Amino acid sequence: MILRFTVNRKSVELETEPDCRVVDILREDLGLFGTKEGCGSGECGACTVLVDGEPRLSCLMLAAQLQGREVTTIEGLGTADSPHPIQSAMALHGGVQCGFCTPGMALTAAEFLTRQPAPDRLAIREALAGNFCRCTGYQKIVDAVQEASLVMAGNDRKKKP
Ligand code: FES
Ligand code: FES
Repeated sequence: MILRFTVNRKSVELETEPDCRVVDILREDLGLFGTKEGCGSGECGACTVLVDGEPRLSCLMLAAQLQGREVTTIEGLGTADSPHPIQSAMALHGGVQCGFCTPGMALTAAEFLTRQPAPDRLAIREALAGNFCRCTGYQKIVDAVQEASLVMAGNDRKKKP
């Protein structure tokens, strides 16, 4: 099939099998290695990307389900010069150790903060419950999401006249 979709605001067209996994298309066809594959079976959240703004597990999603949709991977969340507040906060608070869970964690958190701008720690933990981390013990990641929420609230205030 010819698959057409948008990734990180760029249009993509490629030939693939309809049952090819989205994680493989992102990594192998498009070279977007920020998307990680952990379990490959929908358990760990490492492969999370945003599809039409919603967190989705790219190891469970097939090419045919991507037709015409809009994907954001970690490469599209921010840049080295202009990181998303969650990316800055993860670095600042030591929420990144081996980094394997970080792309999925950051995309999940970024989408969560658009829905819930001032979450408490319990709400953050619940939002990240599908993303496993073997390294950090989660405290630093929760700290980072709280910090990002404060930064984003400050940015919003600055934008208002
Ligand atoms: S690799 Fe997709 S959920 Fe673990
Ligand atoms: S930082 Fe290593 S799995 Fe989370």
